[in-house]
Amino acid sequence: MEEIKIRFMNQQDLEAVSELAMLANPHAEKEAYKKHLFEELKENPDLSFVAVTEKGKVVGYVQAETRNSIATLEDIAVKEEYQGKGIGKKLLLKELEALKSKGVKVVFAEVHFKCARAIPFYYKFGFRIAGFMQDYFGIGHDAIVLKLQME
Ligand SMILES: CC(C)(COP(=O)(O)OP(=O)(O)OC[C@H]1O[C@@H](n2cnc3c(N)ncnc32)[C@H](O)[C@@H]1OP(=O)(O)O)[C@@H](O)C(=O)NCCC(=O)NCCS
Repeated sequence: MEEIKIRFMNQQDLEAVSELAMLANPHAEKEAYKKHLFEELKENPDLSFVAVTEKGKVVGYVQAETRNSIATLEDIAVKEEYQGKGIGKKLLLKELEALKSKGVKVVFAEVHFKCARAIPFYYKFGFRIAGFMQDYFGIGHDAIVLKLQME
């Protein structure tokens, strides 16, 4: 299998990242979401990562934001044909390491109900279901809330 590297996201990645973002955000509109990704990148450059192939193709990303010792995992997504190869794991571990070094104690992830298939992935890393928020992403777009207590 070709080697996949994790590096910091930059502005040139945003087109590819906004494409991937649609996997994790079925409610979103790509161009509008691209602006959101850009804002997140500007605010949290040290918490925005991409997974790239040897040829430099972006095949996954993760973003998070923090408020004091609490973090929210904004998004994580891996291109369909690259899923199930350990890339999501690499991205999430990189993010958790970055959050830990910032003194984060609790991490939340809000998952669109249509992405419920991703829940067992989060459980692998110690996340647990902590609740839900109706209409969180818009009317009819409910979120499942996952929580990780860091050691
Ligand atoms: C969820 C997602 C990021 C996982 O990335 P991935 O690269 O496919 O996952 P990995 O191959 O790194 O898997 C890591 C571990 O989680 C497990 N896992 C991944 N998906 C799973 C699933 N659907 N059910 C059970 N376990 C799963 C793997 O078996 C693996 O376990 P292991 O380390 O013991 O082998 C990816 O599938 C994705 O982009 N999905 C669509 C977007 C989405 O739903 N994002 C989450 C909501 S924000």
